[in-house]
Amino acid sequence: MSLPAPQLATAPLSKQLIRRRFDKASQSYQAHNSVQQRIAQALLTMMAGQAQSYQVLLDLGCGPGPDWHQLTRHCQQYIGIDLSAAMLNEHHSRQGNANGHPSWLLQADMECLPLPTDSVDTLYSSMAMQWADSRQRLGEELKRVLKPGANAFISVPLQGSLQPLADIRQAIDNQPQVNPQPQLQDWLDDLSIAGWTIQAVEQRCFIEYFADIKALLHSIKGVGAGANQAAPLTRATLQTLNEKYEQHRTELGLPLKYEVGLLQMRPSS
Ligand SMILES: C[S@@+](CC[C@H](N)C(=O)[O-])C[C@H]1O[C@@H](n2cnc3c(N)ncnc32)[C@H](O)[C@@H]1O
Repeated sequence: MSLPAPQLATAPLSKQLIRRRFDKASQSYQAHNSVQQRIAQALLTMMAGQAQSYQVLLDLGCGPGPDWHQLTRHCQQYIGIDLSAAMLNEHHSRQGNANGHPSWLLQADMECLPLPTDSVDTLYSSMAMQWADSRQRLGEELKRVLKPGANAFISVPLQGSLQPLADIRQAIDNQPQVNPQPQLQDWLDDLSIAGWTIQAVEQRCFIEYFADIKALLHSIKGVGAGANQAAPLTRATLQTLNEKYEQHRTELGLPLKYEVGLLQMRPSS
């Protein structure tokens, strides 16, 4: 496994900020990614129902590689791409010598991939494609690198995610505690314009429960999923947030909802 030189010279500033956010979260990510793991399992199940083995598999926005073991069981060559070098370093150190499995980790922007045209048999991307600036441009770039007839399996967060946190914070001081997410139909429209045929689609809700508001906020920060722009929480705002969130407490704890789209698709011919 090797780490080629970064290719970020022209990345826009917002991507630099996103990259720094995920660099910071790289150490804590695996301690807080239980909902991301449940989502990945749902996507892997969707994938398992379709094909048993792939030659070249691209794991887009692979992070520290939590799905690497399962993915490499079914492919001859694994390519993990991520914007964050620190995430890739975690991925690299956790896989050791990769048991001889040919795996490549590349630091790159998903909207400008350092891969040849028609070079990938299967795309897997869990909870990462929402970070693209343009869904349509991303769709076009992915279509370029996938071979005709290839399969793509993706999961993306949708409108309604990170509730009731987002609404509570908005009501307190009109600040976006989390990034707004599109509806499933927005993804379907933009991917179809980019030249994709959707073969299967499912919208599912995953709920995570927390002992208190601090643990809940800590978990969002731990996976690098906070809002791009939000005023910091003052002590008074945090107290109000806590009081209002407590009204949503269930016997399992404070809920945090993830609405997720699971898609299987192919480049249109
Ligand atoms: C929530 S993590 C998901 C990681 C992993 N796929 C999982 O399911 O746990 C999102 C990942 O997307 C990466 N990412 C964000 N923007 C990106 C971009 N423009 N290009 C490539 N990767 C990006 C982040 O660095 C981060 O590792």
